[in-house]
Amino acid sequence: MAWKHANEQDFRRAISGHNLALVAFVDVGTGTPISIQKTPIDSLGSENSHPRKTGSQALESEWMSIAGSHTSLISFDCSTGSAVCDEFGIISYPALRFFDGHGQMKSYRGPRRASAIASFLKRAVRPAITTLDEENSTNFQSVDETVLIAHINSRDEHVVTAFETVSSQFQDRASFGLIDTTGASTIACYNNRDEQKFTMSDLTAVDALTKLVESCIAPLIGEFTRANEMKYLQSGKSLVLFFATSSGEREAFADEMRQVAKMYKEYLSFVTVDANEYGDFAVPLGLTPGVFPALAVQNPMYGQVFPYTSRAKISPETVGAFVMDIVQKKVKPWDGQSRPEEVVQAHDEL
Ligand SMILES: *[C@@H]1O[C@H](CO)[C@@H](O)[C@H](O)[C@H]1NC(C)=O
Repeated sequence: MAWKHANEQDFRRAISGHNLALVAFVDVGTGTPISIQKTPIDSLGSENSHPRKTGSQALESEWMSIAGSHTSLISFDCSTGSAVCDEFGIISYPALRFFDGHGQMKSYRGPRRASAIASFLKRAVRPAITTLDEENSTNFQSVDETVLIAHINSRDEHVVTAFETVSSQFQDRASFGLIDTTGASTIACYNNRDEQKFTMSDLTAVDALTKLVESCIAPLIGEFTRANEMKYLQSGKSLVLFFATSSGEREAFADEMRQVAKMYKEYLSFVTVDANEYGDFAVPLGLTPGVFPALAVQNPMYGQVFPYTSRAKISPETVGAFVMDIVQKKVKPWDGQSRPEEVVQAHDEL
């Protein structure tokens, strides 16, 4: 379904009064339209030489799949209404902003998936912290993709304050529940999508709670982008990068690989890469330009890369075996020259 943008008048009405609104400021005018063309290797890295899909285009299907059933979702086209977007300080697209009905505009930094946006809208109408007791806390655990449940002894005032701070800071990405306790204060965070639980009982460090929320929110298999590239490369772990052009393929990979990723999470970070936007990242990994889906393992510490060259379909079994082969040094790192299609051809000739 194609974007149905609000005009300026509808947009202003939607964010006025006490209305809650989540607005997607998009720019569908920029970026080269998607065109599939074979990229010559020597022109890689030049911005307009390969197929590109803008972030606004990527959001379109996710957004439109829920916009019909949520009147609080508004999209506005900055390519035709740039004065409005300037007024709201929008400098990159798409920008998602939440208008809270009390005159405040906040950034939505959660995933740009339909299900995450829908969860956010449900959360937005609840207070930042929900009061719970032992009985109803079990239901609350699964109310959202990410849920924090704190047992706090009211005598631990600094914990109360810290919990209030993180709840307002992360309200766009997680739900927070609070149970009064007479025992020791403890905080647990549930990442329901990845079925992971994070807990902490030592709440003395100032940023301990922020760190807990950040690790809990981070998807087990995240999306690799220019913005978080350094964080991944400096994490001390090797990366398993899966490139695909459609968000459906990337999500399917993340769902399928969850168990394998969990098994190796101390050493490996599994990530998905939008091949429309970052297709050129595949080239220094020894993958064939423009041929997706594709997978490679990168060890940033040793500067080694291992393109997945097998013809066997990318699956938890084949990827698990590939990783084991690398660990046991049965596959050599890429020599920096040959490309998978050449390797395969060379094999055929033998
Ligand atoms: C849970 O129970 C407490 C105490 O009985 C109540 O105040 C609170 O509103 C309940 N919360 C939910 C989400 O049902």
